[in-house]
Amino acid sequence: MNIFEAIAKRRSVRSYLDKPVEREKIESIFNAVRLAPSARNAQEWRFILVTDARLRAMVAEAGGQPFLRVCPAIVVACAETDGRVMRCGETAYPIDLAIAIDHLTLAAAAMGVGTCWIGSFEPEPVREALGIPASVPIVGLIALGYPADDSEPGKHRLRLDEILMENGWKEPWR
Ligand SMILES: Cc1cc2nc3c(=O)[nH]c(=O)nc-3n(C[C@H](O)[C@H](O)[C@H](O)COP(=O)(O)O)c2cc1C
Repeated sequence: MNIFEAIAKRRSVRSYLDKPVEREKIESIFNAVRLAPSARNAQEWRFILVTDARLRAMVAEAGGQPFLRVCPAIVVACAETDGRVMRCGETAYPIDLAIAIDHLTLAAAAMGVGTCWIGSFEPEPVREALGIPASVPIVGLIALGYPADDSEPGKHRLRLDEILMENGWKEPWR
């Protein structure tokens, strides 16, 4: 599958089979993550793969979404960071993490593995359950597993002419 096919195939999966993802696939997914670009090549991302049933239940509880209780793995995306702000005024680590997580979701999609990024979660119970230090921001949870169905509809997206301008704000492309 090429990159455009993986991008087209990826969607947020919110129902999962109770079937573990093979170790080799997880390793391939995280090798794709490892190769993501980052500001100053700082690679501040750190990930915890939560497969243990008891810990998964605790993390799922913090996420509050029922499908998290079923998916066989939850990835907790963290940053070991000095909070560096780039000259453009943006903090680097959430951007670096977002790119790495996108590598994760696309690599997973290319191998038929479903994912869903969860931003709606309580970080403190996750921190406590997994022993994550107070200095380490928890940026997101990602559900990982085989989709239970493929019936979820594709999401609305803005048209190209609504998001792409040329040579100035509001100068339409084309
Ligand atoms: C930063 C971020 C946070 C998100 N948080 C949640 C969430 O808490 N719960 C959820 O079900 N989906 C969450 N999503 C998934 C989005 O709802 C989804 O990507 C969007 O609706 C587009 O659908 P698609 O991923 O199927 O293309 C999140 C996605 C991103 C990128």
